This record gives sequence, structure tokens and C-alpha cells, in this order.
Amino acid sequence: MSDITLKTEYDERPVGVFDSGFGGASTLRNMLIELPYERFVYFGDNKNAPYGDRAEEEILALSEAAAEYLVHKGVKALVVACNTATSASINALRRKLEVPVVSVEPAIKPACLMPGSGRVLMLATRATTRLARYKALQARMPDPGRVINVGCSGLVERIEAGRLEFCELEDLLSERLSPFEGMEIDGIVLGCTHYPFIAPAIKRYANEHFRGECRLFDGNAGTARQLRRVLTERRLLASPKEAGERVSFFTSGDKESLEPVFRRLLEVKIHE
Ligand code: DGL
Repeated sequence: MSDITLKTEYDERPVGVFDSGFGGASTLRNMLIELPYERFVYFGDNKNAPYGDRAEEEILALSEAAAEYLVHKGVKALVVACNTATSASINALRRKLEVPVVSVEPAIKPACLMPGSGRVLMLATRATTRLARYKALQARMPDPGRVINVGCSGLVERIEAGRLEFCELEDLLSERLSPFEGMEIDGIVLGCTHYPFIAPAIKRYANEHFRGECRLFDGNAGTARQLRRVLTERRLLASPKEAGERVSFFTSGDKESLEPVFRRLLEVKIHE
């Protein structure tokens, strides 16, 4: 008998996705559209959120634990749907895991390629703006000095609590963004996967306080396309048939109370 296992054309195993909490739901929305036959297992480390004010080693350890949890669930690929976890752990995860690992990245490139004389604000957690991986990305931009990095402590906690409205966020937005009052701002990069859920509030603040067009950018569509490329190249795509319930939700927090919030966020209308 031959011990050669013939690889089938399709792979029905799910894709694993994790974030410190609910933020990765904004990445997942894009992937559900880009890859309509795939199933996803989502892990939100809500008990340990936010990651963004923690030390690098701590974020690395939490990210490794989240990745291992998903690998044990039998995923065929992993998506790190958290900019903070990516900055602290992506190299280690790629070295360690046998499944392919795809990640999000702040979308400063399209923002910097926009014509205009204004600045680009990159909003992210303090950890992301501080860590070497992001700094190297910024240094590769044609005009790195155009980007102003703004570490936005506090926003993730509000979003985790489901407080997405402008009136719930205005005080914090003003604390973080008032130093740029009246400046010409061409673009704002949503460098944390939680922030697309408050894009309307950020846009409103920008319209009221900055000069310029101020387009918003997030990297989620690019991540979804990258996942499609990786699954295609490695012949890991699911077969083109209705997948039924496509998202399973797991959390380090209280699943009963958190799952309805997560499901609601998957439906929230995100617009610029
Ligand atoms: N969603 C996250 C990110 O993209 C993490 C936020 C946090 O836990 O501080 O950075």
C-alpha cells in the first residue's frame, strides 16, 4: 500500500482569526465577503483586552496563547486581526506555526500615496506606534515625516463596551486629537482593528476640527485579499458550496454575554 496521501483540491477546515477582543470583527467582515465559502473560528481575548498598553513580552505571550488555542481547534490558516499583536508577535508566530499566518497592518501606504500637502494621522494603540515593526513600515514610506503617529489609549475600552456613538467618544477624541486642531489633514489611518467601528465618530471629529478632505483608511480589505491569495496558492480554499453557519465565536471572557455583542458588531454599518 502506498503511504502517499493525495491532496484533495479543497480544504474544508475553518480559518482561525484572533484579536484582543472584538476588533478583529472588522477584519472578519471583509473576509466573509472576499471568501464567501470559507468558515471562520474567531477567538477574542476579551478577558485580557486591551493589549495596547501592555509590554511587548506580555503581548507576545498572549498572542502565542491565542494562536495555539486556534491551532488546536484544527484551523488551516491563521489571521492575526490585531495590529498590536502583529507588531509584537508576527515573526514568532510564523516561525512557530505550521499553518500559514496572515496579518493586518496599518494602511499608511495608500494614505501616504495620496496627493496633497496635508499630513496623515495614524491612530493606533500605544504599543503599535512604539514597536519596531511599525516604525520600519513608516520608514519605508516615500515621505515618512508626513505621518503623525497618535497612540489612542482608552478608545478600545469604549468600543469593547459597545459605546460607538460620537457623544460617547467626543471627550477622548478631543484629548487625543485636539493638538492637531486647524491643521490640514489629508488622511486618517485606522491602525487598530477596533477603530473602523467608530469611523463615523472619527470622521465627524475630523470634519469639525481639521482642514482638508481627510479620507479614512483601514487595512482590512488588503488583509482579506492576502488571505485569499495564500489559501489559493496553498490549495487550501473551501469548496464552492453554501457553508451554513460560517462563524464560530470563542472568547477568554464570558461567552454568554459577549457573543451577542460580537454578532451585533459583525452587522454594524461601517462607513466613512
Ligand atoms: N484591535 C487591536 C489592534 O488592532 C488591539 C487593541 C488593544 O487591545 O489594545 O491593535
